Amino acid sequence: MRIDVALVPQEIEGKNLEHITAIVIDVLRASTCIANAIANDCDGVIPTVSVEEAMDISKAYARDDYLLCGERKNEKIDGFDLGNSPSEYGRDRVQGKKLIMTTTNGTRAIRTAKTAPDVIIGGFWNISACCELAATLNRDILIVCAGQNGRFAMEDTICAGGFAKKLSALTGAVIEETDGCRTARLLYETLHERLEEALSESAHGRNLIKGGFGEDVKVAARTDYVGVVPVFRDGHIMAIDASRNAKVHA
Ligand code: MLT
Repeated sequence: MRIDVALVPQEIEGKNLEHITAIVIDVLRASTCIANAIANDCDGVIPTVSVEEAMDISKAYARDDYLLCGERKNEKIDGFDLGNSPSEYGRDRVQGKKLIMTTTNGTRAIRTAKTAPDVIIGGFWNISACCELAATLNRDILIVCAGQNGRFAMEDTICAGGFAKKLSALTGAVIEETDGCRTARLLYETLHERLEEALSESAHGRNLIKGGFGEDVKVAARTDYVGVVPVFRDGHIMAIDASRNAKVHA
C-alpha cells in the first residue's frame, strides 16, 4: 500500500483513480460541515459543482425532504437554506434531510475524485475514523487537498500530513517521497500542537475571520470530534461505519 498527496485537485484532473481510495480534505469548511451533517443523521449529501446543478437536482425531491446548502465567497447563497458554517448543520436542521450542496472548492474537489471507488471526505473532525476505514479498504491511498481556487491551502495540507502519518502508522504503508507528501508531513509535524492558531493564520482562515466566521475556524481544528466517515459513491455522500465498513445511513 502506498500513500500520496495531491496539494490541489488539478493534480488529479482526468486521472483514472479506479484502483485507489481517495481522501478529499477541505478543512475550512466543507469537510467539517459534511462530517457534522452526517453525524447528525442527514439523509446523505449530494455534492454539486454549481448553483444551477444544485437547483436542478433539487427538482427531483419534495420541498420538505431536502436542503440547499453551501456558499459563494464564504456567504450563504441567495435562496439557499444553509451556508457553510458547521454550526448550521445541527440535528434540528439536517436530520432526515437530503443535503444538496455546492461550495467553491470542496464539493468540486469531491467530484474531481469521482473515478475512485471510495472517496472519503475527511478533516480534523474525523481523522482517525477516516484513516481506520481507509486502512480496511486495502488500496493505495491518494489524499486530495481541495485548496483555494487552484492554489495550495495551508490548512488542507497540514491535515493531509496528519492523515499520511496516521495511515502509515496504521498500515505500515510507505508515504511517497513526492514534494506534496513531504510538504504535508513537514507542515503537520511543525504545526500539529497549535492547530487552531495555524488554521487562523492560513489565508482562508484569515479571510473567514475577517468575514465574521472566526468560530468556524476555531471549531474546524477539533480533532476526532466525531466518529463518522462520509464516503462519496454513485453521486451521494453517505455515512460508513469505520469499524464495520458497513453502510449505516443510505
Ligand atoms: C470551499 O469549498 O471553498 C470552502 O468550503 C469555502 C468556505 O469556507 O466556505
